[in-house]
Amino acid sequence: MTALFNFIKWIGYSIKASNMKKLPRNLRLEAGNARRQFLKLAGYGTLGLVAGGVWPLLGQSAAGQHEDAISKTGFVPDLDISLVAKPGNLAIFPGPATQIWQYHATVNKGDKNRVVELPRSYLGPVIKAQQGEKIRIRFTNSIPEESIVHWHGLHVPEAMDGHPRYVIPQGQSYLYEFEVKNRAGTYWYHPHPHGRTGPQVYGGLAGLFLVSDDEEQAVGLPDGEYDVPLVIQDRTFDRDNQLVYTSGNMMERMTGFLGNLILVNGKPDFTLPVSTTVYRFRLLNGSNSRIYKLAWQDGRPLTIIGTDGGLLEKPVQRQYVFLAPGERIELWADFSGSPVGYRTNIISLPFDGGGMGRGMMMNRRTGTTQNLPLGTRFSVFKIKVTKQIEKKVSLPQKLSEINPVQRNEIDNFSRPKQFYLTMGHMQWAINGRTFQMEDVADDEIVQLGSREIWEFNNTDGGMMRMMNMPHPIHLHGKQFKVIGRSGVDHQGYVDEGWKDTVLLMPGERIRILVDFDDYPGLFLYHCHNLEHEDMGMMRNYFVRETNIGI
Ligand code: C2O
Ligand code: CU
Ligand code: CU
Repeated sequence: MTALFNFIKWIGYSIKASNMKKLPRNLRLEAGNARRQFLKLAGYGTLGLVAGGVWPLLGQSAAGQHEDAISKTGFVPDLDISLVAKPGNLAIFPGPATQIWQYHATVNKGDKNRVVELPRSYLGPVIKAQQGEKIRIRFTNSIPEESIVHWHGLHVPEAMDGHPRYVIPQGQSYLYEFEVKNRAGTYWYHPHPHGRTGPQVYGGLAGLFLVSDDEEQAVGLPDGEYDVPLVIQDRTFDRDNQLVYTSGNMMERMTGFLGNLILVNGKPDFTLPVSTTVYRFRLLNGSNSRIYKLAWQDGRPLTIIGTDGGLLEKPVQRQYVFLAPGERIELWADFSGSPVGYRTNIISLPFDGGGMGRGMMMNRRTGTTQNLPLGTRFSVFKIKVTKQIEKKVSLPQKLSEINPVQRNEIDNFSRPKQFYLTMGHMQWAINGRTFQMEDVADDEIVQLGSREIWEFNNTDGGMMRMMNMPHPIHLHGKQFKVIGRSGVDHQGYVDEGWKDTVLLMPGERIRILVDFDDYPGLFLYHCHNLEHEDMGMMRNYFVRETNIGI
């Protein structure tokens, strides 16, 4: 029944594809398989090099090479950073140091305080920028495989977005130059080579990219030591303190990697000492596949002030909140009423993670370690009140301005684009398709300047019901609005505000509204379960300039 349904969908799609008449100049239709007609982007790799690009790192003459490449762009940065990804090791536990991969940054021009290292962490430094600033990042890949950096959530031109077709081998560099257009918010960066994002992030390559703006500063939220980034990840370590990644076992890959130890800011058993005042917690789920159902252990509701794309219009309260890989949530955490010595935790509550997520497929790879299945209850981190201070802060009732959208401003209001999260041949896919480096199907093309509704549908995981799984869907280059969700009655979503990653539990359907107002070119959308992404649950979308004509 299910398989038949998929097949019908597929035919429906290909009929539409075969109606295509003319092709844009820079696209060419791949000959062959009539049932699968994809647009192939010709010569794309070089287009991106206009603004940024690759240049070899040649030992002693490297500096000269950099300056050469840079002087051609005419870009005058407010902040100029060198960012290197390289192997290292770190004492996470007593005993042998853990081998990791890590981002290191240095400021070449601009305020040195814009790059903040997290002490004794494998995570990359927090990069801080102001809206409107011009940022140059000279990325050098020093890990022994191809890589490229993606700025998750940032609205940047395609050559700056870290698409996997821009990967560079060990020893080469990539020049990023862009203006920060985003509103204030908690963004992040991580590698994006095709098929290897999961292992590279797992190895330690990830960091926060915080943006501030005038609107945010006028609100007067807790800052400095009261503004706390909290990156949540799960890892598994062997007896020698080394990271253990998935064995490659098919079932494990289908589920996604689940570690048995929770780390916050790179530290196991994380405890945050706080004073008797208010904090801004910026939570990022930087895990490969684990979803958290966050709540306060002491039962108070969560007060949420921001999500992926920055501050909400006004604070909202939830008893719990799902945080899927790639998503961010900002909490107003008030300890002014708690005495010194008070302890509580941020916990993850039990939930049903779908047929495959229960951990019954987990193998016994290390023999001694215990599994931590998706959807079990555990503590994420601890908080203890250690200091009495008098610092009264009240929760602003207005946080930011978010403009409503009218129905008649939407170009495809009556026929939203449909994206089914599907599985076939033991592979996750979107509309039955998996990632091909430069392929775009006709329903993945949008007109520059348009505003569209995209509908994602997770009501049908594949041939077996048990294989339904949650999928966090992420769009590159855009912040969007969630305008509808149906299927399962969860309380734990914060769909208000701007999002770039959105969780679909099994049985759910969701509609998002996306503005393709600028930046033409090829961008990704994908499942942010990194093992799903690596196995191809990722596609391109293409923003076409109006004058090309199709
Ligand atoms: Cu964090 Cu392509 O994503
Ligand atoms: Cu992204
Ligand atoms: Cu997925």
